[in-house]
Amino acid sequence: MLEELEAIQTEALAEIAHIADSPSLEQFRVDFLGKKGRLTAASTRMRDLPKEEKPLVGKKLNEARQAITAAIDQKGADFAAAADSEAAAGVDVTLPGVPLPAGNAHPLTQSLDRIVQALRHMGFALASGPEIETEWHCFDALNTPKDHPARNEKDTYFFEDGTLLRAHTSTVQIRVMESTPSIPLRIIAPGSAFRRDEIDATHLNQFTQIEGLYVDRRVTLADLKGTLEFLFRHIFGENTQVRFRPHFFPFTEPSFEIDIKLQIAGKEDKWIEIAGCGMVDPAVFEAVSRTRGDDLFDPDKVTGYAFGMGVERLAMIMWGIPDIRLLIENDARFLRQFG
Ligand code: DAH
Repeated sequence: MLEELEAIQTEALAEIAHIADSPSLEQFRVDFLGKKGRLTAASTRMRDLPKEEKPLVGKKLNEARQAITAAIDQKGADFAAAADSEAAAGVDVTLPGVPLPAGNAHPLTQSLDRIVQALRHMGFALASGPEIETEWHCFDALNTPKDHPARNEKDTYFFEDGTLLRAHTSTVQIRVMESTPSIPLRIIAPGSAFRRDEIDATHLNQFTQIEGLYVDRRVTLADLKGTLEFLFRHIFGENTQVRFRPHFFPFTEPSFEIDIKLQIAGKEDKWIEIAGCGMVDPAVFEAVSRTRGDDLFDPDKVTGYAFGMGVERLAMIMWGIPDIRLLIENDARFLRQFG
C-alpha cells in the first residue's frame, strides 16, 4: 500500500507539470483528490489494513495529499499571474500619464465676473430682460425722441412686427422699474446688445453690456461718483485715475461719460472712455409711473442714477487685447493665454 501511494504521488507530480490551463487543472484535482479520485479510493481501503500498518500508511496518505494539493495551488497561482501579465501586455506602467488639458473661463466671462462680483458686494442684485424688445422699453420709456438716430433701421435691427433686438441693456431699467414691488432698487443687468455696425477691430454687431440702476429717496450724484470710482479702481487697480466728462443721454440728466487714464509702459498716457452714466431723467420715472399706475416712482419723491458699459472694451483694456474680434473667434491659442 505504501508503494502504491508513493506511485500515485509520483505520477500526479509528473502529470501536473504538463497541465497547461485551468480547466485541465480542475480535472486533475477531481481525478486525484475528488470524491472518486485515486487518493480517496486508496484511503477507503485503509480500513482493511492490519492495525499496526495503519499509522504509517495514514502518514504517507497525508503526505501525498499535501504534496498534490500544494502542486495544484502553485499551478493555479502560476496561471493567475500569467493571465495578469497577458492583460497588461503592451502597457508600460512606468510611462507618465496623458495629461488632460485644464480648461479656463473665457476672458470675457472672467472680466464680467469681476465686475459683477464687485457690484454685488456693493449691494446690487442681478436682473435680466429679453433680447427681443419693444420700442417702448428700448426707446420711448427711456425718453428717446422718435427722430433719434439710434431708432433708425440703419442702426438697430427691427423685426417686421415692430419689435427689435435691443440696442442697449438700458431696457432692463424700465422692465425692473415696471415690475418691482418696492424701492430701494439696486440692480445690475449684464447681457447682449445689438447694433447694425460693421465688424472691425473695435466693433461687433452683438456685444455685451452691463447696466446699473439705483433708485431711492435722495440718491445723489455723489453716490454715483463714489460707486463707479470704487468699481473702476477695483477692476483696474488702486491708483487708476477716473474722470467724469459731461455728455448727453436722453434717459439721464445730468449725464456723463467716464474715462479712465490708461498708463502703458513705453506709451503716452491716454484717457479712454469706458462707460456712460447719469442721474435718471424725471421723464423716465414719469413713463414708468404711467405704466405702473401708481406713485412709487413719482419723480418728486425719488431720484436715481444709472450707468452702462461695454464689457468687451473693458476686457480689452484689462488684458491688453488689441482686436475685439479675438473675443468671438474662439481660437484656442488665444483663449489658452487666460488660464
Ligand atoms: N445705454 C447707453 C449706451 O448703450 C449706455 C448708458 C449711458 C447707460 C448712460 C446708462 C446711462 O444707464 O445712464 O451707449
